[in-house]
Amino acid sequence: TGLTALDYGFVNTAATKSKITYIDGDEGILRYRGYPIEQLAAGSTYLEVAWLLIYGELPTADQLGEFDERIRRHTLLHEDLKRFFSALPHTAHPMSVISSALSALSTYYESGADPHDPEHVELTTIRLLAKLPVIAAYAHKKSLGQAFLYPDNKLSFVDNFLKLNFGNMAEDYEINPVLSTALDRLLILHADHEQNASTSTVRLVGSTGANLYASISAGINALSGPLHGGANEAVLEMLGRIQDSGEGVKRFVERVKNKEDGVKLMGFGHRVYKNYDPRAKLVKESATEVLQALGVKDPMLDLAMELEQLALEDDYFKERRLYPNVDFYTGVIYKAMGFPTRMFTVLFAIGRLPGWIAHWREMNLDPQNKIGRPQQLYIGEPERDLPQR
Ligand code: CMC
Repeated sequence: TGLTALDYGFVNTAATKSKITYIDGDEGILRYRGYPIEQLAAGSTYLEVAWLLIYGELPTADQLGEFDERIRRHTLLHEDLKRFFSALPHTAHPMSVISSALSALSTYYESGADPHDPEHVELTTIRLLAKLPVIAAYAHKKSLGQAFLYPDNKLSFVDNFLKLNFGNMAEDYEINPVLSTALDRLLILHADHEQNASTSTVRLVGSTGANLYASISAGINALSGPLHGGANEAVLEMLGRIQDSGEGVKRFVERVKNKEDGVKLMGFGHRVYKNYDPRAKLVKESATEVLQALGVKDPMLDLAMELEQLALEDDYFKERRLYPNVDFYTGVIYKAMGFPTRMFTVLFAIGRLPGWIAHWREMNLDPQNKIGRPQQLYIGEPERDLPQR
């Protein structure tokens, strides 16, 4: 068949060309459209970065204002869709809730979601950016048994989201700029990461001609796994288990090194970064700052730092070039903000949404785009006859 290479996990194979994000894993470099992540995190906003990723350049003040305005106008969910949440148990994992709700969302816009109509694609882009945070906040409220709030479109994107999560109908919601700034920064850090598993999923689904809702919903499911976005949740669970068991960090690291029960140091290691993950460095700085600004003392932050230190000095991790990744410290910040552990990966999904959209759009505009269709090496039985019965 002309098949020449077997490449488990796509370690050596590029499936596309892309102009969106540049990573140098040896140097610890990450750039969106050429701009270093450090500069974007320090001097930009999530909506600005979303525009940059999707349209290729930084927006002018007018473009950004209009983008923001359009997103605010599309935050409301159809009242029927709000009832969709009541069909699910309150114990449902919010990642399952948001991916299902996005699939369900597409049923309201079927006639306006043609992947080949630029106006439809534009409107779907806005709808997704506006509605995913609302859906996410409702998944959170649902898990608590609390009433859903209507979006407050006077508020900024991030403040609106925080109010939908932490506000209630009985009292005014007080904006805390520490939370808003920190969350906006974390969303920027998650906004794109080239051909990771969820983005590749979005592209693969999109390559069949499926619409943007269907493709993003699939991407959310890919993100949910503990080796990908689900790691931020798994890190907090791991820290909690170490704390509760009293086994101590040293013993835990020994168990990881011995691969006892397949236990891994969650939030460590990366397919591409082999010296450090530039996002992890920024997240660690944020963790200390945010906890200090909120006046929160969390022994989990100390535990995480102790664990990181021990691992960085250990030959097992050195030889394998394993360093903290973006997920190692995010959970400590989300926890201090008041999010339950099961919402952590949902926050990652909101951050990654502009990246997914940008890749889907780039692929659909690429004349070389083909349906994604991996090959296999068949290792099963040769031809054989059904026994005479
Ligand atoms: N703890 C202990 N050992 C590890 C870890 C870890 N976190 N990560 C990799 N290793 C070992 C692995 O067992 C293997 O050892 P050996 O050569 O003895 O078999 C070696 O390091 C190479 O690892 P690999 O599994 O071949 O590497 P990969 O590129 O296929 O996997 C990874 C990358 C991120 C899935 C993996 O490092 C991992 O499972 N990390 C923990 C989960 C995690 O934090 N994921 C978040 C990734 S960053 C954000 C995101 O993408 O969502």
